[in-house]
Amino acid sequence: MKKIKVGFIGCGGFANMVYYPSLTEMDDVEIVAICDINQEKLNNTGKKYNIEKRYTDYRKMIEENELDAVYIIMPPHHLYDIVIDVLKRKLNVYIEKPPGITLFQIKNMANFAIKNNCKTMVGFNRRFIPLLRKVKEIVEKKGPIIQAVSTFYKNMYPNFLYYNGAIDILTSDAIHSVDVLRWLCGEAKNVKSIIKSYYSDTPNAFNAIIEFEKGATGILLTNWTVGKRFHTFELHSLGISAFVNCDDKALIYEDNNEKPEIISTFDVAKSNQLYKFYGYYDENKYFITCIKENKQPECNFYDSIKTMELVEQIYKNNISS
Ligand SMILES: NC(=O)c1ccc[n+]([C@@H]2O[C@H](COP(=O)([O-])OP(=O)(O)OC[C@H]3O[C@@H](n4cnc5c(N)ncnc54)[C@H](O)[C@@H]3O)[C@@H](O)[C@H]2O)c1
Repeated sequence: MKKIKVGFIGCGGFANMVYYPSLTEMDDVEIVAICDINQEKLNNTGKKYNIEKRYTDYRKMIEENELDAVYIIMPPHHLYDIVIDVLKRKLNVYIEKPPGITLFQIKNMANFAIKNNCKTMVGFNRRFIPLLRKVKEIVEKKGPIIQAVSTFYKNMYPNFLYYNGAIDILTSDAIHSVDVLRWLCGEAKNVKSIIKSYYSDTPNAFNAIIEFEKGATGILLTNWTVGKRFHTFELHSLGISAFVNCDDKALIYEDNNEKPEIISTFDVAKSNQLYKFYGYYDENKYFITCIKENKQPECNFYDSIKTMELVEQIYKNNISS
């Protein structure tokens, strides 16, 4: 079996939590070399996953190894130069969300990817959560989704700054909820939003109502000052309503039946490990399969322009006084 040879830039917290466990479990992947500017993190990851080739300069890693793909899992404000350099070397690239810090950046990244014939992917993992995928399939059997709700609550009070303020909450993190609405409903046509800065000068609550081109209505409800992390989705179609908490379970009601079908997130994923039941393993498997089959991933850089555009529309159409 041909193994896809991966070079990995970034040995940080999140990569260690979900990417290294996912990729090292796949028979058709070899993490050939890793890179981090922090020697301690580099060595810890190398030792943990038994990866001998370790670099503090990603250019050296790329020049000294034959790679099929490069993962670049780093804070978003440090991403751009490295992504462009790797694309210019005609290598396939995987990055985390957000895809850069501005719409302008992701448009340029997408153009460089097309020009250099690279496969690209942005890790919008919610699209790959086994429970959410199963529920989407069940709901869509009854007809297209006509209404969807995407909620994301956190309590970050009193510090609302991601990376000391390098990027805003909506673009950096609540973007997951925006991307899911696109994935469920298609492309947006009309947007109205209410954005608030509660107990702070920093915008920390983003609420929107979105009309999609195919007719669905999407609702975004997010607030970073409230009780705790709570992240849910509602999917509605003719005669069916699903209420989904991907950390726990989905309740699906059909045809006025009082009793819901209940589906556990752990049962669908056949695992209670976060990297499995929250879609990280499956998004990586998908990227690797796309490279093997010479297919452009669905959530490539070009596609993620649309999600960043919707984020921009939410900012532009704020009706709050
Ligand atoms: N999808 C999700 O649910 C989710 C959750 C958390 C974080 N993330 C994303 O994951 C990404 C990484 O977040 P994190 O919390 O792991 O960050 P982190 O700061 O813990 O890790 C980043 C690593 O990159 C290294 N690095 C920085 N510049 C480098 C360079 N030039 N060359 C090589 N290494 C370099 C740092 O030393 C660090 O080890 C972010 O984009 C974040 O938004 C996604």
